[in-house]
Amino acid sequence: MAKLSKKERELVCLERLKATERVASEIAHELNTPLGGILMYSHLLLEDLADDDPNLENVLKINKLAHRCKMIVQGLLDFVHDDKPKYELLQVNDIIHEVLGFLEDHVLLRGIRIEIRSGANLPRVRGVADKLEQVFVNLITNAAQSMDGRGTLQLQTTFEPKLGRIRITCSDTGCGIPEDELERVFEPFFTTKGEGAGMGLGLSICHGIVEQHGGTITVQSKSGEGTVFTILLPAATRRSDEIEVPAAAHKRGCRAC
Ligand SMILES: Nc1ncnc2c1ncn2[C@@H]1O[C@H](COP(=O)(O)OP(=O)(O)O)[C@@H](O)[C@H]1O
Ligand SMILES: [Mg+2]
Repeated sequence: MAKLSKKERELVCLERLKATERVASEIAHELNTPLGGILMYSHLLLEDLADDDPNLENVLKINKLAHRCKMIVQGLLDFVHDDKPKYELLQVNDIIHEVLGFLEDHVLLRGIRIEIRSGANLPRVRGVADKLEQVFVNLITNAAQSMDGRGTLQLQTTFEPKLGRIRITCSDTGCGIPEDELERVFEPFFTTKGEGAGMGLGLSICHGIVEQHGGTITVQSKSGEGTVFTILLPAATRRSDEIEVPAAAHKRGCRAC
């Protein structure tokens, strides 16, 4: 094939990404209903079975695995672009506290030191609360997984007046990312985790969400030392409707080129 220009490569990438989104969406919607059925019937069975029933263990396994499938399907649905997000004025510090509130007791964070450095008087951002929560859940989960129960997770927020942006960093002292993998981590389905441990959608979802908010997300890492993800989000101005997220930002950018 003739050598493609950068622009042509970007176009091919974007087409591939769109095709992936289409397939992901179709698979997720097709699986959602039967999975709901499996979950419901396994619940009904569980209610009927006596504690000493020899089938109890198997039904519990079916139920647990169906739950896992449901989470995978949800991951696919989240990956697919949401056309009608509900934007409101939000305080990033509150969102981070909210997320830590429900992740705090999670087994993943057990043994991990959490440091929060919340910038004072941060301007608000115009955003979709549950989408931004999802970004932090994904980043914190990855950080925790990289530290395997030992290390420090630091979340810091500051306002950059010159940029008119809020800087959020999520740092960990985990295994780090080798240089040759660094530029692939935002690609959909890129994962280094074993079977059943990761789908490789977390960071590509984060990237899509941050972009929808008119922001950027970047990563710095050193193998064996740790990783820092940095998000810059535009601060909302006094007149919130001035912050119109540019139309192009709603479209998922191409992260593979
Ligand atoms: N904090 C981190 N430390 C080390 N590696 C990371 C970190 N975050 C992401 N990665 C790498 O990026 C890959 C993609 O992450 P992600 O998109 O969340 O997918 P998944 O977690 O399902 O593998 C991970 O498999 C891992 O190799
Ligand atoms: Mg992940």
